[in-house]
Amino acid sequence: MTKKIDGKKISLEIKEEVKVRVSELKEEGLQVCLAVIQVGNDPASTVYVGNKKKACAYTGIESRAFALPEETTQEELLELIARLNEDDTVHGILVQLPIPAHMDEKKVIEAISPKKDVDGFHPRSVGALSIGEPGFVSCTPAGIIQLLKRSGVEIDGKECVVVGRSNIVGKPMAMLLLRENGTVTVCHSHTKNLKEICRRADILVAAIGKPKFFDDSYVKEGAVVIDVGIHRDENNKLCGDVDYEKVAEKVSAVTPVPGGVGPMTIAMLMNNCVEAAVRMKD
Ligand code: GUN
Repeated sequence: MTKKIDGKKISLEIKEEVKVRVSELKEEGLQVCLAVIQVGNDPASTVYVGNKKKACAYTGIESRAFALPEETTQEELLELIARLNEDDTVHGILVQLPIPAHMDEKKVIEAISPKKDVDGFHPRSVGALSIGEPGFVSCTPAGIIQLLKRSGVEIDGKECVVVGRSNIVGKPMAMLLLRENGTVTVCHSHTKNLKEICRRADILVAAIGKPKFFDDSYVKEGAVVIDVGIHRDENNKLCGDVDYEKVAEKVSAVTPVPGGVGPMTIAMLMNNCVEAAVRMKD
């Protein structure tokens, strides 16, 4: 029988664990704090930032919000980041992306201290992941590893296929699966025989960015499928990169959309904030 991997439940477990650690730190006199910066009024960003603030409130993490106008100069943003880097009461710094076009995203990401880089986007964090050093890991792929482990899915020695090579999901996902001793193949828009490669996967991570792209012809009997996509279908209903109904008949486990990978990202952000506070204390 196909198992639906419940990201909502697992993310709640992680948030409960975070809550306990935050409260223990509070007893030691340390209030965990995340600075959340949003530049401009992108509606999707406003929703994401709101959800992050709610998760902070739930876990007992202080969220310090900075809502900057669209016209903010890059210099002003970099000054704010520099100030937050120096502020010992702030443990994590998050700049919600995208930022306005007149700013250089790379420069902004690189301005955040790697010690406070709870998004795991800084080149130092990315480098640390690739050579197995401690550092912060991008929240979505880190959340997927937790989904697999907490659902009892073995990664060691398994054929893992990641479809998508973004800096935020595909590349760190591949590094994490490799760290867990998976045999990893990364596919992308230039990949030939995509279907054939996907059909080899014991674990398939779908992050292609196309609604319901993966049907049953892309999966092996008994595979585990992780759906990173989020879209609206023709009926305005949320769906992923995977055609859930068709795939569910064939695989051993699959994540739904919504309620799969999505809630894990914020749970892992909260986890990274506590980790940042603990590392700064030690
Ligand atoms: N925009 C969309 N997803 C993310 C994320 O995970 N972190 C940040 N900072 N911005 C985003």
